[in-house]
Amino acid sequence: MTTPASFTQDELKTLVGQAALQYVVPGEIVGVGTGSTVNKFIDALATMKEQIKGAVSSSVASTERLKHLGIPVFDANDVTSLAVYIDGADEIDRSGYMIKGGGAALTREKIVAALATRFVCIADASKRVDVLGTFPLPVEVVPMAAEHIKRRFQAQGGDVSLRMHGGAPLVTDNGQHILDVKGLAIKDPLAFETAANQWPGVVSVGVFAHQRAHVCLLGTAQGVETLKY
Ligand code: A5P
Repeated sequence: MTTPASFTQDELKTLVGQAALQYVVPGEIVGVGTGSTVNKFIDALATMKEQIKGAVSSSVASTERLKHLGIPVFDANDVTSLAVYIDGADEIDRSGYMIKGGGAALTREKIVAALATRFVCIADASKRVDVLGTFPLPVEVVPMAAEHIKRRFQAQGGDVSLRMHGGAPLVTDNGQHILDVKGLAIKDPLAFETAANQWPGVVSVGVFAHQRAHVCLLGTAQGVETLKY
């Protein structure tokens, strides 16, 4: 038997992915995020696929995994609301505010989260922080605005880089680019998100404060801890 202290990070992701099944409402469509932790959730969701109508997905990658496992995927425009959205995070603070977008899916994640009544974050304990900003903040931008937005973050003390993939700028599912901003200490996530979202050319900023988590299933050495905000 595995002792708690010997959980690997991968095992913690599996544990929280499985624990999230308790928040899935039978007979409904579930909102599904993106990332390695969500992949564990999708695999677990397949075990109860007969009990749900399907999913709304936040990325091409999650859509492919859901379909491969036989879970129907609905377009976000075909639903008016979702009972729950389940997704990972790159950082989560003590108020349920998060940084997301390490997998470049932040804009669609925010859209699906906005449709949901409840956001359940699944994360291993390494994601928990006091102040957001140690993880480089992803910002999805329209390519022609990248340099201008870069200068605005630099003026705030940010160290900004354009995310690359295979020697060229990474292109998101929405055809845009990602800036990663290091060196920020985001002490007021609500105000930061509101301000940065209004800069021309910003598609979405990876601070999830207006779409914060309501519950976090945190994988710790002692097992799954449930945090409510
Ligand atoms: C995807 O764009 C992100 O928001 C992910 O939810 C976040 O990066 C967490 O991913 P992992 O579960 O792979 O750490």
